[in-house]
Amino acid sequence: MSVWRIQGGEKLAGMTPVQGSKNAVLPVLAAAILTDSETELTNVPALRDVDASLHILRKLGCNISREGDSVLIDAAPAAGCELGRDLTGQMRSSVIFLGAVLARSGRARIALPGGCELGPRPVDLHLQVMRALGAQAEMEGDDIVCRAEKLRGAHIDLPFPSVGATENAMIAACAAEGTTVIHGAAREPEIVELQGFLRAMGAVMSGAGTDRIVIDAFRPKKHVTWSVMPDRIGAATLLCACACAGGDVELLGSEPGHIAAVTDALSAMGARVDIGENRVRIICRGRLTAPGRVVTRPYPGFPTDAQPLLMAAALTARGGTVFEENIFDRRFRHASQMVRMGADIRTEGRLAVVRGVERLHGAHVLAEDLRGGAALILAGLGAEGETVVEDPGHVDRGYESLDGALAALGAHIGKN
Ligand code: EPZ
Repeated sequence: MSVWRIQGGEKLAGMTPVQGSKNAVLPVLAAAILTDSETELTNVPALRDVDASLHILRKLGCNISREGDSVLIDAAPAAGCELGRDLTGQMRSSVIFLGAVLARSGRARIALPGGCELGPRPVDLHLQVMRALGAQAEMEGDDIVCRAEKLRGAHIDLPFPSVGATENAMIAACAAEGTTVIHGAAREPEIVELQGFLRAMGAVMSGAGTDRIVIDAFRPKKHVTWSVMPDRIGAATLLCACACAGGDVELLGSEPGHIAAVTDALSAMGARVDIGENRVRIICRGRLTAPGRVVTRPYPGFPTDAQPLLMAAALTARGGTVFEENIFDRRFRHASQMVRMGADIRTEGRLAVVRGVERLHGAHVLAEDLRGGAALILAGLGAEGETVVEDPGHVDRGYESLDGALAALGAHIGKN
């Protein structure tokens, strides 16, 4: 259990780099077993989910070496095709390995960690994708079991733009004979990143970023190098931190276009947001104005991962905000903890109604998921007194050193 201690009231100031993207690097790590050549990744963030992914790759037989933010993967010896609960329990999104293991071995057994803090995590769309590509795909208890003599190119119609199912389809389709077209694909920047990586590996692929992705062929190249894109939710986290604490913060190495929905919301709240080539600066002076309504949607809509983070900034804004969470069933668990800090929030199904209060006070609260935990830390920055966030390890799954980044900007924060 980590315990985060935040003394509220300190404004933030300074410049800080944005870490490599968790949600981009995880599918890239899985896709590295598509070839027998070496893959060298840089700007790999130091996260527990990355550690878990590297552990899985080693268990599958890969040789892994890591130095700083560089990771070298030699997938030639990889032969495993089963990921037991002991491996997948460490990382919620272990399903991300399904397409790669099936593509490499012709079969896969992936134990699922089941529902997580955000609600049930069904995998029906992942099964649909594998069946469309010609595999037998069934659930056996909590295991996904797939096998395919040969994967065949197909037209895949996703009824919902699932990020993970789109990624699994892109990866598995690289091993399929013939062309695959994914209709209704997710459009997130992490999808575009994965296409870039797969192309670097030798895929003939196009359309990522739109709802139609075409995978024509895969001719593996030798020794692939790839630098991981910046983490857009990590960037959104630091911008919302400044909105909570007040101050003047500049993010370096971020992709402003990836977080336009978040910077638009912060600007609407009265923050000054300056967008540069690959930098974003936010200046927050005085009390912000509530954004009114925030509706989470698949990209390019407002990202569900930033919903808890913007809520933290809305807690003391002038006026009310209605948050509508359309992606996950249980993504307001941070609300009750924020109420312990003096926030005025009522949740009902997919809606959370926030009425801005003058100020929050420090409290002893519990992190119940990754972004909710980060949001409680952010709320503590603007609260009076000390906030203690008990965290069973959620925040470090997604942030390289959130305490280090915030402390470097002047926050009075410690973790043990
Ligand atoms: C990815 O999760 C991200 N995780 C999530 O970030 C992010 O919130 C989510 O995409 C949406 O943007 C990673 O990239 C590792 P989905 P994923 O499949 O792929 C339902 C974070 O905080 N669904 O797009 O699991 C599902 O239940 C994490 O960094 C099905 O019904 O998201 C959910 O309601 C949290 N059947 C919705 O779709 C399926 O087969 C979105 O899921 C698959 C998903």
